[in-house]
Amino acid sequence: MSAMLIAIDGPAASGKGTLARRLARHFNVPHLDTGLLYRATAAGVLDRGERLEDVEHAVAVARGLALTDFDEDRLRGREMGEAASVVAALPEVRAALIEAQRRFAARPEGAVLDGRDIGTVICPDAPVKIFVTAAPETRAQRRALELAGRGEKVDFAAILDDIRKRDERDSGRSSAPLKAAADAITLDTTKLGVEEAFAAALKIVAEKTSKA
Ligand code: CDP
Repeated sequence: MSAMLIAIDGPAASGKGTLARRLARHFNVPHLDTGLLYRATAAGVLDRGERLEDVEHAVAVARGLALTDFDEDRLRGREMGEAASVVAALPEVRAALIEAQRRFAARPEGAVLDGRDIGTVICPDAPVKIFVTAAPETRAQRRALELAGRGEKVDFAAILDDIRKRDERDSGRSSAPLKAAADAITLDTTKLGVEEAFAAALKIVAEKTSKA
């Protein structure tokens, strides 16, 4: 069988991370959450005491990232998600991160990558592309649960507002905006639990790989 390469994209808190992890475990291939790269870049810039819009520093941090050993506790917080979407809008930062992502995707056994531009820019030839969506209110509820689980104080209205703003920023930017690849299958998880979404994704994978 050829490499099991699965590209997953979608807006904030759509469930793409959970789905990507499940698929990677199921097919026994490595998983890269590419959002962590942008989150780690933002964290590095802030650690240097620089502004998030500072291209030179952001590129230097992005180039120096290792794809493992992320301090997920710090990176997954609400604040760093927002900061990530600022550095992610800089084309130079995106360019600095392309090669490492493509190298990860080229592993002989395959890989699962999730992000915003995996099916469109990073792995345009991936045999399986899934675009995961859900209603903004549903995504805000999921994010609220996730943040509460991490011990953060949760303000639902503020989270919903974040989600809407981030959708706008991610979809409206000129460099690799969030959009489904022409050959991606959209999976709306608004009414689906984790297991149901996983089952639906497995069906998509089976359909796509049987035609290959
Ligand atoms: O789940 P959530 O969207 O909150 O977080 P994430 O996937 O870690 O992404 C954080 C931010 O990084 C997004 O809002 C995007 O602006 C950016 N990002 C991106 O531009 N391209 C990617 N491949 C992944 C993330």
